[in-house]
Amino acid sequence: MLRGDWPKNPAIYQVYPRSFLDTTGSGEGDLAGITRKMSWIADLGVDAVWLSPFFVSPMVDGGYDVADHKAVDPRFGTMADFEALVEAAHGAGLRVMIDQVLNHTSDRHPLFQAAIAGDEFAADCYLWRDPKPDGTQPNNWLSQFGQPAWTWNHRRRQYYFHQFLAVQPSLNLRNPHVQDLHRDEITFWRGKGVDGFRFDAVTSYLFDESLKDNPPASPEVQDRVSGANFVPYTYQDHVYDMLPGDGAAYAEKLRDWAGDDAYLIGESTSGNQQLTLALAFTEPGRLDGCYTIDMPEKGATPEVLQAIFDQIDDPARVPKWLSSHDQPRHVSSAGDGTDRDARFFALMMAALPGPWLLFQGEELGLPQATLSQEETVDPLDLLYWPDGPGRDGARVPLPWSDGPNCGFTGGTPWLPMRWSDDRSVAAQSEQSIRGFYREVIAARRDAGWGDGRVTAHGLEDDLLTVETEAADTRWRVRINYGPETVETDDGPPFLSSQPSTGAVMGRSVAVWKAG
Ligand code: BGC
Repeated sequence: MLRGDWPKNPAIYQVYPRSFLDTTGSGEGDLAGITRKMSWIADLGVDAVWLSPFFVSPMVDGGYDVADHKAVDPRFGTMADFEALVEAAHGAGLRVMIDQVLNHTSDRHPLFQAAIAGDEFAADCYLWRDPKPDGTQPNNWLSQFGQPAWTWNHRRRQYYFHQFLAVQPSLNLRNPHVQDLHRDEITFWRGKGVDGFRFDAVTSYLFDESLKDNPPASPEVQDRVSGANFVPYTYQDHVYDMLPGDGAAYAEKLRDWAGDDAYLIGESTSGNQQLTLALAFTEPGRLDGCYTIDMPEKGATPEVLQAIFDQIDDPARVPKWLSSHDQPRHVSSAGDGTDRDARFFALMMAALPGPWLLFQGEELGLPQATLSQEETVDPLDLLYWPDGPGRDGARVPLPWSDGPNCGFTGGTPWLPMRWSDDRSVAAQSEQSIRGFYREVIAARRDAGWGDGRVTAHGLEDDLLTVETEAADTRWRVRINYGPETVETDDGPPFLSSQPSTGAVMGRSVAVWKAG
């Protein structure tokens, strides 16, 4: 079903506001900076912009710890700035999507503060439990960041539950007041002209009220778990702390509140169940798409892509992405940091069906930045230093020019910027990575690649060949993961990430019109 004027499989550009452009000299990006560059974003050819949280927050978890879901944090500007941003986006032909963090609040949120102060109505909006008789935590649940999922509060003499940091108490989504708050937040932002939402951590929304211990994960389950298992979370099978039964049905409420014309995606972070849950969340009447974290964590490998081709009936249900504010920049993590690899991934993402989420700066070919422990502020990176995910390295602000602080700020950037001059926006020409992104995004739109479907795929050595059909045209996409050139009989391609007269060079993608 089409959502208002949204394309079925949009290309969406993620902006991390704190790192985009600072107009005040504070050292942090702001909403006015995004507005100023809106036509520059639109010029890339994307369909929409998605803003990471800009709501009132102590910013312990980069804004995903929200203290007031309906107010702009002064560090990012004012509500009038947000309204101007929406107007500028719509004027530039872009839809606006914003994050909604409904799973938890900040511990500074008035509701949680009231709970601590003894307000039982407020306490019921979260999950509080008495300790076991020996004073220990109510069960064996772990937070996704690896610590216990229960933190003691001495005032209440109880533990509270949190799926992420201790400063992010989990809400109880079965509570009618919490549902009222969610409806109110969603309708509030729709009233401000927002066209869609990205729902944070949807697979954490509900837990089994029995609060039984999770069983240990079997070796098979552990094998299928994404990510590094230095986080003990991966040692459990998350049957009781995560979406028991049809927990994904909560998405029907989200759809109801957001309206039929809103484009809605969710984030599935649930380890071994992530694809199954993504599908549950995208059943009719629920979300349009739900992305998993396999692609950025394992790399867009033939195995990961083929699993998605084989397990989903409609590519619209599982958006593709490689980088975000949570993952190291893919040109470094899945590639060797070169422009060749930036082009390789860009054409791969553009040519394959399904929505495409791009992260600010990937179109400049930005590599993952290296920060010292002293420079790092992200609690997750610091918790596992130096083996954490490198979230701050992906959040280093954008280089706009080769001037002081790369033209990002007149003050001191909140993370140090050591970009080489050739990466800056000012230095990028038509022949640059950004020029190539514009070309592949335009080709994707004109050929309708995003709306296509995979009809066949096969892997031979390092060459993955994917046959697709889009707008009554058949396409052949060849992805050469290896270093050696592979000859084909296909003749000159329609588009390729490296020069080609028919062969697929090492680490390149080539696309042919197959009829
Ligand atoms: C966000 C992260 C955040 C976590 C907890 C995620 O999935 O993208 O940045 O730390 O949710 O809110």
